[in-house]
Formats: sequence, C-alpha cells, structure tokens
Amino acid sequence: MKKLLFVNGCIRGEDSRTYQLCRYFIEKFMESGASGSWTVEEIELDKSGIEPLDRETLILRDKLLNGGNLDHPMFAPAKQLIEADMILIGAPYWDLSFPAKVKIYLERCSVTGLTFIYDDCGIPAGQCRADALAYLTTSGSAIGSFNFGYDYVRGLCSLFGIPETYFASAEELDIIGKDVPAIMESAKDKITEIIKEMKRYI
Ligand SMILES: Cc1cc2nc3c(=O)[nH]c(=O)nc-3n(C[C@H](O)[C@H](O)[C@H](O)COP(=O)(O)O)c2cc1C
Repeated sequence: MKKLLFVNGCIRGEDSRTYQLCRYFIEKFMESGASGSWTVEEIELDKSGIEPLDRETLILRDKLLNGGNLDHPMFAPAKQLIEADMILIGAPYWDLSFPAKVKIYLERCSVTGLTFIYDDCGIPAGQCRADALAYLTTSGSAIGSFNFGYDYVRGLCSLFGIPETYFASAEELDIIGKDVPAIMESAKDKITEIIKEMKRYI
C-alpha cells in the first residue's frame, strides 16, 4: 500500500474551510486511481500534542542523534514524513503564513540524519520518498505575493528531496459581499487540475 500523508493544520476542525478543500482533495485523489492501492494517514496537528523544541529537548535531540538512537518518539513525525509517498498539507492562512502548530510540526520534521543528510562535500541531500506535496489554504483577504506559508514549505521540500509542490487556495473569504461558495468551487477546480498533474505518480 502506498501512503498519502495528510498533515491537517486546520485548527478549526470540521468548521474549517481549508479542511473542506482537503476532504475534496482526498476524495478526488482516491477517485483518480488511488483507491485500493493507497491509504491515507492523517496527523491532526491541533490534537497531536507536538511541542516546540526548547533547550531541554534540543539537548536530548542532539544526544540521541549523536548516539544514532533514532527510535525515540520525538523522531516519529520525521520518520512518518520520510515514508510518505505523497503529502497533503492543509493549513489556513494565518498572519501571512500558517498556524504556529504547523511550524512546530515542520520543526520536528526537520532533522539532520533523517529528512535530510549532508554529503561528504557538506551539501544537503533530501531523504524523503514522496514524489510530490500539495499545499492547500484559505484566506480572509488576498494572499498576493505574501505567500510565506507555501513558500516556506516549498523551501523545506527542496531540502527534504520532495521534487514537486502544488498550491491551491480559496482567497478573500472574509470580505463582505464576496461569493464564498463560488470562490470555494473555483479552488476545487484548481485541486482537480492538481490531481490530474499528480496522476502520473498514483
Ligand atoms: C489567527 C488568525 C489569523 C489570520 N490571519 C490572516 C491573515 O494574515 N490574512 C488573511 O487574509 N486572513 C487571515 N485570517 C483569516 C483566515 O485566513 C480565513 O478566515 C480562513 O478562511 C480561515 O480558514 P479556516 O476556515 O480553514 O479556519 C486569519 C484568521 C485567524 C483566525
């Protein structure tokens, strides 16, 4: 079974419009040939209990890494990411990027010796298996060139060795007078296009 990892950063849960887009993505993904040969593994960040690195955990992490002890639970997110064949990140647009819990999750995934290594010349080499990552968001106003959440994730994908990234958004959802259902439909159309692109990996 191949694995689609759904990183659920939709803090408002079922009420989240970003979550609605993610559900749509997964449905279309499964319909496009993945059903039966792919499984979806979800990490719900609001309930995951992942904490930011602090002085104590950083010291422990360095000790474990130096000792080659990678079985510690703190490395579970990084290992899960490495083993995913495809990744979906859903995160609302908060303060020009994404909720802090998404950052904490990514901080926990970014581990030298797991998601990336340095070769003999000191050049990083990504260790993730996934062919592609899709990033879905919704925002209150227009995102424009301040797409810092996706841009950051794209940068990490380059470090982690994930070659393709895709982005879809439903924007201006909190602007009075906007046709929210139409904006959501148009984002779903974009997702359908993304799935067509991803089909070569399914
Ligand atoms: C804490 C917080 C920060 C937000 N920051 C922004 C922002 O910087 N720019 C923006 O356009 N909308 C912002 N919004 C509005 C959300 O992006 C918008 O309502 C989005 O659709 C929420 O996604 P959800 O329905 O998946 O929770 C913010 C909302 C919250 C709760």
